[in-house]
Amino acid sequence: KGSAALLTRIFADNGFRKVDDEFLYGTFPDGFMWGLATSSYQIEGGWNADDKGENTWDFWSHQNDGANIADRSNGDVACDSYHKYQEDVKLLKNMGANFYRFSLSWSRVVPSGKVANGVSSAGIAYYNKLIDALLAEGIEPFITLYHWETPLGIQEEGGWLSDGIVEHFADYARVAFDAFGDRVKFWLSFNEPYIFCLANWNYGERSPFIEPPVKPYICSHNVIKAHARAWRIYDTEFRPTQNGKMGITLNCDWAEPKDQSDAEHIAAKERALHFKFGWWAHPLTTGAYPPIMRELVDAKSIERESRLPTFDAVWTEYVKGTLDFIGLNSYSSYYVLPSDGSNGWVNGDANILSESDGSWNRSGIGWSVVPYGFRKLLTWIHEEYKLPIYVTENGYGAREAEGLDDTGRQNYYRAYINEMLKAIVYDKADVRAYTAWSLIDNFEWTQGYTARFGVNYVDFNDPERPRTPKGSAIQLTKIFADNGFPD
Ligand code: NOJ
Repeated sequence: KGSAALLTRIFADNGFRKVDDEFLYGTFPDGFMWGLATSSYQIEGGWNADDKGENTWDFWSHQNDGANIADRSNGDVACDSYHKYQEDVKLLKNMGANFYRFSLSWSRVVPSGKVANGVSSAGIAYYNKLIDALLAEGIEPFITLYHWETPLGIQEEGGWLSDGIVEHFADYARVAFDAFGDRVKFWLSFNEPYIFCLANWNYGERSPFIEPPVKPYICSHNVIKAHARAWRIYDTEFRPTQNGKMGITLNCDWAEPKDQSDAEHIAAKERALHFKFGWWAHPLTTGAYPPIMRELVDAKSIERESRLPTFDAVWTEYVKGTLDFIGLNSYSSYYVLPSDGSNGWVNGDANILSESDGSWNRSGIGWSVVPYGFRKLLTWIHEEYKLPIYVTENGYGAREAEGLDDTGRQNYYRAYINEMLKAIVYDKADVRAYTAWSLIDNFEWTQGYTARFGVNYVDFNDPERPRTPKGSAIQLTKIFADNGFPD
């Protein structure tokens, strides 16, 4: 009965916590880390500064008279953090952030993408300045090696569809550990491989892919090998002296069974999560793709080799156990229900359909705001993979009209961070860090500057105007300082 659930909570809490309207007052565990994130292409600008090489996003945004991007913009200048990084550090300092998650531009550090052709001393110097400025303020640098930008020469050799990229990435990772690892203790190999392996821009194509999907599975196979190469290089050559940690960042939204009482809907939820999160987390923890993926994709690859590659015995051992932690980017939730598999793409392979709920609130750019889904997702990942979880992105997108008084974003952060607290307190999920996306408004990929995720406002029409804190920056400053929501 309800009373059993209530007693369970009282027993677990060893008494009574102040709970009002399902809001949980309390603080996060000691040492919990608070930070903010950006990525190189989205903020740096300086696209051809010094000897930086061209990359896929430089190319893609300039193609087709700019029409690949909603507002025909690009990241040529963006937030100009290549020159204004000190302003970014100041914002982080004012917010009391413990760390800053940013990415390295591969073609800024290694202009051609291939280390054998040379490393850029200007590129290394830029990131050294940023890292040193952060450390001078007591802010930990938290680096993503790959946030969607492939050096153009490597793309021309097939990019993620060619296994040659694995060694080029490994060489680049070694350069980064060697140059920065004395001061950088948190590394992420990849940001959201599910997104870039399924995106047309990753392959330089505007037209939809042919069915059934093949490219995403080839891409993922190379990404997983590249992650494992980088992690093993770190583990053997650098960890003994540098003592840091390395993970990967996976995107995942919660898949809520449309009908909670229907076993088929609950099974559809598991398929949805394994085809999105398990696709990467499973090989990196167990050496193989999730059994359900293997079963379904093999079954739909009749009369030829499976579209889903297999790790041979050597690679199985090599990729297994190569995560010190799991990075999670999560923003939203959706309903999931079973399908007959005729709906195409990876969702077709997973035999699922997804739907939204008209009663859910929406962000300014239309994403469903479903705080409870965040708690359920954190708990699912904790139970499934038993690894420390670092939330590497969570945030709220809006249009320009929102201005500085971003109440929608403030409500979002308060509710989502509170659900994370519940996952830790009630479900014992091992969540170690929280990162808000984003420190500043920036170039939102194919949406250009039409979508704003920043907690600090950037005026893209007036480069002289300093970045300005929005209400959400002030609110996060308090949550960080309080380490949550004390009574
Ligand atoms: C996912 C990506 O990692 C980031 O680059 C993007 O801007 C945000 N989420 C918002 O879409």
